[in-house]
Amino acid sequence: MTLRFDGKVAIVTGAGNGLGRSHALELAKRGARVVVNDLGASVDGAGRASSLAEQVAEEIRVLGGEALASTASVTDWVAVQEMVVATLERFGRVDILVNNAGILRDKSFAKMDIDDFKLVLDVHLMGAVHCSKAVWDIMRKQQYGRIVMTTSSSGLYGNFGQSNYSAAKMALVGLMQTLAIEGAKSNIRVNCLAPTAATRMTEGLIPAEHLALLAPEAATPALIALVGEDAPTRAILCAGAGGFERAYVSLTRGIYIAPAPDCAEQVSARLEEISDREEETVPESGAAQTLLELGKAFAARAA
Ligand SMILES: NC(=O)c1ccc[n+]([C@@H]2O[C@H](COP(=O)([O-])OP(=O)(O)OC[C@H]3O[C@@H](n4cnc5c(N)ncnc54)[C@H](O)[C@@H]3O)[C@@H](O)[C@H]2O)c1
Repeated sequence: MTLRFDGKVAIVTGAGNGLGRSHALELAKRGARVVVNDLGASVDGAGRASSLAEQVAEEIRVLGGEALASTASVTDWVAVQEMVVATLERFGRVDILVNNAGILRDKSFAKMDIDDFKLVLDVHLMGAVHCSKAVWDIMRKQQYGRIVMTTSSSGLYGNFGQSNYSAAKMALVGLMQTLAIEGAKSNIRVNCLAPTAATRMTEGLIPAEHLALLAPEAATPALIALVGEDAPTRAILCAGAGGFERAYVSLTRGIYIAPAPDCAEQVSARLEEISDREEETVPESGAAQTLLELGKAFAARAA
C-alpha cells in the first residue's frame, strides 16, 4: 500500500539542506502540506541565510505541492510557537513533526569548550523539545500525531570528537522513549531516525567513493515509514545507503545477588553472566525495568 499523506500537515525542521530537504520534498510528493523550517545556519550553527527555507518551499510548489517557509531557530521557544501558530493559520492543523535541525561542533573532549557543548545540546535537544512541546497539545486534542527525533549512530554508539553531539543525540532517544509512553493514549507516535547521508555535515568525513551511495534520499524512506498512519512507536530506525536496521535499548536477563558485604566482588566475578545476551528484552518503560529487579528479589525471598 502506498504511504500517502493527503490532508496531513508536516513541519520539518532544518529542511533547507540535506536530509531535512529530502524528507520535506518526499512528504510533499506524497500529498502532505509542508512547513519548511530552516534558520539557514552554517554547519557549526553560525550565521543565517533566511532565503534557504523559502527556496525549498518553492521547490515543493513547483512540484505542485503546498508549502510554508519558516526561518525560526528551533532554539527560540517564542519563535517556534509563532511558527506553529502560523502553521495553524495557513493549514489548520499539524499532524507530523520531524525534528531534524542540527549542527556540529566537533572536537575531542579534552579540547572542547563548554560553550560548544551547550550550543550543540541547545540546537538538537532543546530544539526538539521546543518543537514537540509547541505541537503536543494540538496533537493531543486531535488525537493524532507523528513525531520523529533525529538521533545518530554517534549517540547510540559513540564517535571520536563528538561528545557534545553524542550526548545530545542520545538525549533525544530518552525524550522519544517518554513522549511515546505519554502520547500513546492520544494516538501520538514518537520514533527516532538515525540516518547516515552525504550532506554538508559529513563533508570530508565520508570517503568520495561512498558519497553517491549515501544520498539523503536513501535515508528518507525510513522517515516516511516512521510518520505514516501505521507507524510504530518507540522505534529507533537506522538508515543509510539502502541499509535499514532497528536499534534497541535492551536489557539482559541478569542475575540476583542477595545483600552481602561482598556484593561488589560477586558482581565483578559474575559480570559475564550479567552480560549474557541470550534472553535479552526491551522493557516497556523504566518502571517496568524496576519491577523486573523487584521480581528477582521477591523470587529469591520466596525460595
Ligand atoms: N548526515 C548524516 O550522516 C547524519 C547522521 C546522523 C544524524 N544526522 C542528523 O540529521 C539531521 C540533518 O543533518 P544533515 O546531515 O542534513 O545536515 P545539514 O547541515 O545539511 O542540515 C541541517 C540543517 O539544519 C539547519 N539548522 C541548524 N540550526 C538550526 C536551528 N537552530 N533552527 C533551524 N534550523 C537549523 C541548518 O541551517 C541546515 O540547513 C541533523 O540533526 C543531523 O545531526 C545526520
